[in-house]
Amino acid sequence: MTIQKAIEIKNLSYTYPDGNIALKDINLEIFENECLALIGSNGSGKTTLILNLNGILKGKGHLKIFNKEISDKNLKEIRKDIGIVFQNPDDQLFMPTVFDDVAFAPLNMNLDEKEVKVRVKNALQAVDMNNYENRFSYHLSFGEKKKISIATILSMNPKIVVFDEPTANLDAKSKKDIIKIIKNLKKDGKTIIIATHDLDSVLEVVDRIAILNRTIVAYGKTREIITNEKLFEDENLDVPNIAILFKTLTNLRCDCTDIPLSLDAVLEKFKTRR
Ligand SMILES: Nc1ncnc2c1ncn2[C@@H]1O[C@H](COP(=O)(O)OP(=O)(O)OP(=O)(O)O)[C@@H](O)[C@H]1O
Ligand SMILES: [Mg+2]
Repeated sequence: MTIQKAIEIKNLSYTYPDGNIALKDINLEIFENECLALIGSNGSGKTTLILNLNGILKGKGHLKIFNKEISDKNLKEIRKDIGIVFQNPDDQLFMPTVFDDVAFAPLNMNLDEKEVKVRVKNALQAVDMNNYENRFSYHLSFGEKKKISIATILSMNPKIVVFDEPTANLDAKSKKDIIKIIKNLKKDGKTIIIATHDLDSVLEVVDRIAILNRTIVAYGKTREIITNEKLFEDENLDVPNIAILFKTLTNLRCDCTDIPLSLDAVLEKFKTRR
């Protein structure tokens, strides 16, 4: 069975109106139901690339979502397929109540009232925030706002969900909650992109990694990329803790081929080995 491409980017470049070249000749493929981590130092173009994916920014080059080239004509259609969760939830929440915020997109899709209510309920369920419908969005904590902002995207039922720095400014429990949400989205068949500095937190759900520095400087399967220490050093990125552990274990002559990509899972594995 051939895997479908969810996103295909060919020779995409983007220059801001002030002349700042943020993206240059990006070529990238993202496959259906895969989770791609997009990493790169500050200012490397991650957010700019994300904003090109649903036409908020329009670069030069080719960008296909499920084989449809993005154009002004199909922008509305494309935006149903690809939902972006912004880094700052305040950019996503602007209605008085959580219900209104999560219902906003389905109402705009002209769904009937009953369907809108079902969408809101399911989206809040997916982020484990069922009882928040009547809360005031602006009263919520940052972690709560983050989950509600994810629900505002899930209520559109997009095939692709893009997260910009999903774990930034979250405590350990909230980070785990976000990972659980992403794992469930994967189970539901969604395609996921995570732009992040915090690769360690998301590594266990990531299938492939692309390193961005205005252009794609590396792209490959998670294990292949994280074990290339030089890549991380060259791009001023932290080598993931799990890669440091792999290296240490390899030096101790342990076979790391089937070692899982989360520290918790590694510890669990070694516990059962003893
Ligand atoms: N509105 C803008 N006008 C001009 N230049 C911009 C604008 N927004 C971003 N840039 C520039 O584009 C480049 C890429 O920025 P971008 O925000 O995409 O990077 P990033 O990888 O998301 O960074 P971070 O990790 O800090 O979020 C940077 O040099 C930035 O200064
Ligand atoms: Mg950014």
